[in-house]
Amino acid sequence: MSRIALVTGGVSGIGAATAKLLQKSGYRVVANFFGNDVEAAAFAAETSIPTRSWDVADFAASQAGVAAVVQDFGPIDILVNNAGITRDSTLHKMTPEQWRSVIDVDLGGCFNMCRAVIEGMRERRFGRIVNISSVNALSGQFGQTNYAAAKAGVIGFTKALALEGASRNITVNALAPGYTDTGMVKAVPETVLQGILEGIPISRLATPEEIARGVLFLVADEAGFITGTTLSINGGKYMA
Ligand code: CAA
Repeated sequence: MSRIALVTGGVSGIGAATAKLLQKSGYRVVANFFGNDVEAAAFAAETSIPTRSWDVADFAASQAGVAAVVQDFGPIDILVNNAGITRDSTLHKMTPEQWRSVIDVDLGGCFNMCRAVIEGMRERRFGRIVNISSVNALSGQFGQTNYAAAKAGVIGFTKALALEGASRNITVNALAPGYTDTGMVKAVPETVLQGILEGIPISRLATPEEIARGVLFLVADEAGFITGTTLSINGGKYMA
């Protein structure tokens, strides 16, 4: 029986590319989404990957969402915490809401989703968790104190949970994408993006598929000795 993978934010951008690549590679995939119903319907029709809607920033909704997935498809072997948002602003203009919403989704979502799957993984003594961080967690980024804090938090969270999971054959890794050709990056003002592109040695955005390949690598049964690491895929923009 093939392993079951749950991808949050799984109907667009890096999440959709990941869900499709995992499906193509023989995994049974469920894609979570929230707020983008039209995109989710199109994704489900195109891929026949089942989709389920809940807000990963909501603890109770995440518990219920995971329970429903387990009931409908079986225990979750692989969790890809990809759901994330930006609310870019310099700190001197940032509202508490811009701060909180990014922390709640990008970092809180990781806690809520891992908390919902971890007991089952511990019982079954198998798990693969990949938390999507960002190059900007490592380098910092003008206008992203909220996002850089959340995504750097994801890396610390990953390392701590990797220690806890190690004795149960649960690996936990972070993946730090660089600037990728998704809606999130397209929302960056053109002039700002031009400057960013000039700082990428490979001189282009990543494709979502190039990031998904990293996830596929980390979730393999054969990747059982890789844990607590952060895999950078950033075109050379930042070399940690
Ligand atoms: N470095 C240094 N100074 C900069 C700068 C930079 N990168 N960008 C702007 N400035 C300067 C301007 O020249 C201006 O200077 P003066 O005050 O001396 O004139 C000043 O900062 C403007 O400051 P403001 O607070 O007025 O900024 P703003 O409101 O015009 O815009 C911003 C700020 C919205 C954050 C804008 O800079 C922006 O959109 N930046 C992009 C942030 C970014 O890269 N986001 C990534 C999104 S994708 C993603 O996050 C995915 C991933 O993981 C990679």
